[in-house]
Amino acid sequence: MSDSSNSGPKRGDYAREKGEVVLRPHEFDGIQEYDQKLPNWWLFTFYGAVVFTVIYWTVYYHTNLLKTDHQIVQEAISIVEKARQEDLVKALASIDDSKLVNVWAADPSIVAAGQATFTTNCTACHGADLSATMEVAGTKAPLPGLPLNDHQWKYGGKPMDLFKLINAGTPPESPGHNGAKMQAWGQTLSPKQIAELTAFIIAKVPDDFKAYAAGTTN
Ligand code: HEC
Repeated sequence: MSDSSNSGPKRGDYAREKGEVVLRPHEFDGIQEYDQKLPNWWLFTFYGAVVFTVIYWTVYYHTNLLKTDHQIVQEAISIVEKARQEDLVKALASIDDSKLVNVWAADPSIVAAGQATFTTNCTACHGADLSATMEVAGTKAPLPGLPLNDHQWKYGGKPMDLFKLINAGTPPESPGHNGAKMQAWGQTLSPKQIAELTAFIIAKVPDDFKAYAAGTTN
């Protein structure tokens, strides 16, 4: 079966003249194929898409007119960072050592909220009883964190020192504890949650923080 479409008249023109449908000469299993000029609306969308692709590609990759996905994500992140920073500044202005002891740690519902956050985020390294150990087969196995009930505060024992340490994690210049550094919880917890955690720790070892109950030490 030979295809004669290369010789003969142009099929589109022919069909238009005759007002009829042109079929290509081949046939398979009773199925035949139209041989018509593609409609202009279709051709325009097709060529339009090709032209658009070239223009869009050029504008997207070779000019600064459109933002890349990376820039869009970076901007969204910096908005979140800014809001978080503002939150923290507000929180720091509204709390101090004596408020954490007298107001936050004295309120059972705040302490309970701090305990709930502690159970979810902190017990894995500091232990449910704050001793940084875990009962395993009758012995106390050490956990990665520092004990919080040993009355020793490595980065300062004021309530605000705890708040700041939990918020910012191990300071960059510190080698950490046995090489383990604590992450900055301010990345995942709000200043309110961190103040609640601080209140919970204060309520667990109140003697360590008695000195700050009255004063305005900061
Ligand atoms: C992945 C383990 C890990 C988790 C989870 C963790 N910590 Fe820590 N934490 C540490 C380590 C390690 C240190 C010691 C850091 C150092 O020495 O620089 C530490 C130190 C601390 C200290 C200072 C203790 C001291 O004696 O001075 C406080 C307070 C603290 N963590 C609170 C928290 C709170 C609150 C949470 C939950 C939001 C938490 N930690 C979750 C590992 C952890």
